[in-house]
Amino acid sequence: MRRLRRNAALRDLVADVHVRVDDLVAPLFVREGINEPKPIESLPGVVQHTCQSLRTEVGDLINLGVKAVILFGVPKHKDAQGSGAYDPDGIVQVALRDLRAEFGDSIVLMADLCVDEYTDHGHCGIVDEHGVVDNDETLKIYAKAAIAQASAGAHVVAPSGMMDGQIAAIRGALDQAGFPDVAILAYSAKYASALYGPFRDAVDVSIADGGDRKGYQQDFRTAREAMREVALDIDEGADMVMIKPAMAYLDVITDVAHHVDVPVAAYQVSGEYAMVHAAGERGWIDRDAVALEHLVAIKRAGATIILTYFTRWFAERSMVSPSTSVDRTEEFG
Ligand code: PBG
Repeated sequence: MRRLRRNAALRDLVADVHVRVDDLVAPLFVREGINEPKPIESLPGVVQHTCQSLRTEVGDLINLGVKAVILFGVPKHKDAQGSGAYDPDGIVQVALRDLRAEFGDSIVLMADLCVDEYTDHGHCGIVDEHGVVDNDETLKIYAKAAIAQASAGAHVVAPSGMMDGQIAAIRGALDQAGFPDVAILAYSAKYASALYGPFRDAVDVSIADGGDRKGYQQDFRTAREAMREVALDIDEGADMVMIKPAMAYLDVITDVAHHVDVPVAAYQVSGEYAMVHAAGERGWIDRDAVALEHLVAIKRAGATIILTYFTRWFAERSMVSPSTSVDRTEEFG
């Protein structure tokens, strides 16, 4: 077996899997009411942007060859309905209008579609008098948010709330409002994971009364259920489906990739990024080598698209060395 491993050129030649900048989506945070970008301690290198710094960042990413970003908003005021998610002057809608006017179609603008960043109780939906998320009341809010995001210039909306029927509700609303071209990236198999911790710092979300999302996100002991979630979403009109988190769910990515004929995305989430950074900072692992190994693993599992906080880092390194194959790991050390 060692004959084809003898040198880097041979290894490059026979590599099955390559990660390209084109495959990556940069998650970006924009916060209302700040004058300076604000670092997020648990996500090294990631900040809460002002509209201005967001524009600069997206311009840089375009120059680096990145093809897509996904926006998350941090509003000044939160309320029970999460009205900032559908207010035309909500922070993500303002940012979308700005970016679309500046950059047009030169980068894909995606918007995370959920209300957890905008609700004072931190849930991904409207809660009833018992504190339980009301599925169908929430769908009405998601429909409004989708129209607000599409009107503001989103090319893709990405519902992440795990309500039943959310894709049908959003597709219907978009079509009816005159946005048949706006695509849906469905967070289809989104697990109730402990790996979202740093993200909740990034968007200043804590769930009321020590609550959790186990009543709507998938239990991580289930595998086959992911196939049902994906099938329902495709049936309801999802253009792309997503599995989230990524590294601990490679089996699910592979299963889904084998069964569907739409692009499969995987979200390498905040906790995955933070762990690699933290161990790298301690000198316990080689951060860049592990980051590359993880991205390749996610592709190898079957993902077409990867949402990752490593996007800018990866794109910058790809400028230096255009080949980003698995066998070039040593060049990134
Ligand atoms: C919900 C949402 C979450 C993430 C993306 N969209 C948080 C959650 O479900 O609690 C997590 C992303 C990450 O951890 O990087 N709007």
